[in-house]
Amino acid sequence: MRHSDLAAHELALLPLRAFLGFTFCFAGLQKLANPSFFKASSPGSIQAQMHGAARHSPIHTLLTPLSSHAPIIGLLIAFGELAVGVGALAGLLTRVAAIGGALISLSLFLAVSFHTNPYYTGSDIVFVFAWLPLAIAGGGAYSLDAYVSQVMARRRAGRTAHMVDVERRRVVGSLAAALGFGALVTAGAVAGFGRLLHSTKADSTGDLSSGLGATPGASTVAATPSSPAPSTSPTTQASAPPAASRAPAHATTKPLPRGTKIGPATAVPVKGAATFQDPATGDPAVVVQPAAGTFLAFDAVCPHAGCTVDYEPGHRVFICPCHGSQFNGTSGAVEVGPANSGLRKIAITAGPDGQLYVT
Ligand code: FES
Repeated sequence: MRHSDLAAHELALLPLRAFLGFTFCFAGLQKLANPSFFKASSPGSIQAQMHGAARHSPIHTLLTPLSSHAPIIGLLIAFGELAVGVGALAGLLTRVAAIGGALISLSLFLAVSFHTNPYYTGSDIVFVFAWLPLAIAGGGAYSLDAYVSQVMARRRAGRTAHMVDVERRRVVGSLAAALGFGALVTAGAVAGFGRLLHSTKADSTGDLSSGLGATPGASTVAATPSSPAPSTSPTTQASAPPAASRAPAHATTKPLPRGTKIGPATAVPVKGAATFQDPATGDPAVVVQPAAGTFLAFDAVCPHAGCTVDYEPGHRVFICPCHGSQFNGTSGAVEVGPANSGLRKIAITAGPDGQLYVT
């Protein structure tokens, strides 16, 4: 087909296909390459995001039971985005890919960005509508769908419609298998490279749960209620950090704070942060130490639409990855919208045993 033969509306779909295809491939690969996405104790993990979203979402009754299978949901989303992206880029089974893309975007809209205000600052709803032209019109020019149709049209002479249809399925199946294999190999390489890269990078935000010797799963992060007597449980002894974090002998005579122990104070770097799970709400939370011995804790769920904020130690602010809200690193107050209220403060105390307690 010559360029002049192409209908303008078919060419008009090309930028849309390129952008949506690239974006969904990037989103899927980014999730697979980022080990923090599957690490429950990380504020940006799928577990934390699902938990935060469940509090605000209109489909919270569906999200709450699903959040216990968060890693599987995360993998499905990542591979779903990749499949949809490859389909859109190549223009193979474009309508199927577009419907899949619209469904993924609709799920994210309902789960995460439903309460975004004004609504047009949330991208998910825009993606839902961006997929619709491809779902209606198909891939258009420069797509494998169009190529297969042309080949089939040439081979139609002397053959029944059924034979042509069988061959079309075989060709489309072979192309889909080849593209799927290529995407899987790429995903494996990107995931491996991403993990290698992350393992060599220092994480600016620590994890209090590791200080307690707890497993990273959100449901098993062990915040333990304190008792007036000093704790002597074998688990605590086994996982307590050595030497530097051990409380001086005279200090253990002081009463421990009433509240729930969340981890050792030494897990929070000075001018840095560490994550934990708020024992009262189950929300992902962050504790910061702006000056030696001063501990401040905040609910990490962004009040705008429920994403989980990250602490940026360089600028001492919390930043929301979804729509860019920023919150003061010591007060939690909004510094940059669209959020219009601050992060919820969590009362926290350092005990004489070197542990931090939510009180
Ligand atoms: Fe929108 Fe945080 S969820 S800025």
